[in-house]
Amino acid sequence: MPLTQWPLPVLCVPAALGALLVLHTATSSRLVCHMTNWAQYRPSSGKFTSDNIDPFLCTHVIYALSTINSFNQIAPIEWNDEQQFAGLNRLKNVNPALKTLLSVGGTVNGISPFIAMVAKIESRATFIKSVISYLRTNNFDGLNLAWEYPGHNGSEEQDRERFTLLLSELAKAFEDDARENRKTPLLLTANVAAFRPNIDRAYEVQKIAPHLDFINVMTYDYHGHWEAATGHNSPLYGSAMDSGTHIHHNINASISHWLVKGAPAEKLLLGFPTYGRTYRLSTGATGLGAPSNGPADAGPYTRTAGFWSSYEICAFTPGANVEWISEQQVPYATYGSAWLGYDDKRSFSSKVQYMTANNLGGAHVWTLDMDDFSGSFCSDGTYPLINHLRVSMGLPSKPTTTAAPATTTDPIADFCRGRPDGLYENPANEKTFFQCFQGHTYLQHCQAGLVYWDSCKCCSHP
Ligand SMILES: *[C@@H]1O[C@H](CO)[C@@H](O)[C@H](O)[C@H]1NC(C)=O
Ligand SMILES: *[C@@H]1O[C@H](CO)[C@@H](O)[C@H](O)[C@H]1NC(C)=O
Repeated sequence: MPLTQWPLPVLCVPAALGALLVLHTATSSRLVCHMTNWAQYRPSSGKFTSDNIDPFLCTHVIYALSTINSFNQIAPIEWNDEQQFAGLNRLKNVNPALKTLLSVGGTVNGISPFIAMVAKIESRATFIKSVISYLRTNNFDGLNLAWEYPGHNGSEEQDRERFTLLLSELAKAFEDDARENRKTPLLLTANVAAFRPNIDRAYEVQKIAPHLDFINVMTYDYHGHWEAATGHNSPLYGSAMDSGTHIHHNINASISHWLVKGAPAEKLLLGFPTYGRTYRLSTGATGLGAPSNGPADAGPYTRTAGFWSSYEICAFTPGANVEWISEQQVPYATYGSAWLGYDDKRSFSSKVQYMTANNLGGAHVWTLDMDDFSGSFCSDGTYPLINHLRVSMGLPSKPTTTAAPATTTDPIADFCRGRPDGLYENPANEKTFFQCFQGHTYLQHCQAGLVYWDSCKCCSHP
């Protein structure tokens, strides 16, 4: 078939686009996963970089964290951020439906860098201009604001209004950028507080919601070793033990409050932690609400006393006494004087049911790097918790991939071993083709009626 005549250019659907259309129509719910640029410093098997991401696991990946420099411009934090951005955004060659966002926030000398930036219209304009240029240059699809929280830590009450101004100006600038450059508009999102007093103080909910594509409610860190009695990190509901303001320290209380204040349910994403929080018990009591004085020992990989990643947890729970807190729909585990409130597949399932019952817009996971991403700790495959979440949410199953054991002789599973990244024909079926990425094989399907042509690396008419 002479390529000069055929396929007609108009029919030459790039293979990648075929995959995009298929995934896009099937995906109604978001599974947004955060990665952190400090996880690269964890030792041995805990080390995590953008190379460890499964391109088909999440619908969106948020890269945490960048900052704002003294010139009010968005700026990287780590020496190799831009290298990791490239690694992350290369995943879109494999899964063109994947969206990536850059998160900005944190503190500089203990103060949020947002506070100075939002104070004047000129500095907000400088920031917004730098954001658009930086995101476009590094091939991101959007921005995630991680300001904890407007109106807190020395900033004035007026920061609540300034946050609204920042969002409306960002949204307008993103629209203008998309129109002028004929591009898909950049996504605008925020991580927001879960405690009622923080929500009331930080946000004009009805004014900010229209500007945001989605809102990540940080439904974790409800309890931790800073308290004098054990409590769960991320309980779905309250407990009979709760008193005072603690009655609001649960997911249901947070989400109800966001809804009452006027946030559209379909923009709210429920936060799923892939970590648990630890305590050191101070008496013989081991239940919920038992006296405690500080955290259990730090985990060997996360090396910070007070929390353990889920891959550290799966080394702890088999020898521990595990209990299910029925009224809160979450488990805890104790061993010796260590007490751990964490999440497992069962609690994730309960939270998905809650999410669905309340018509929420999906899930966001803190973080990719604290799940058993390599599968080397929990004997339950790669990303066991997030994969379970994906399946529980009813998201379409991932394309055939090969995390196949080295002993396999399956010619399809092994197709990409040793081959450069790229697209290849499947001699056994012309309606499909192979996408190779870092030695892994992804079997892709052309849209109905089209077949794969290696000459154009695209699906076209037979
Ligand atoms: C910010 O506020 C929290 C809660 O009030 C407090 O624990 C923390 O020390 C404050 N940080 C700074 C830098 O003021
Ligand atoms: C969830 O929160 C709502 C609103 O505050 C409340 O009416 C309801 O009883 C709570 N559900 C549970 C199981 O605690």
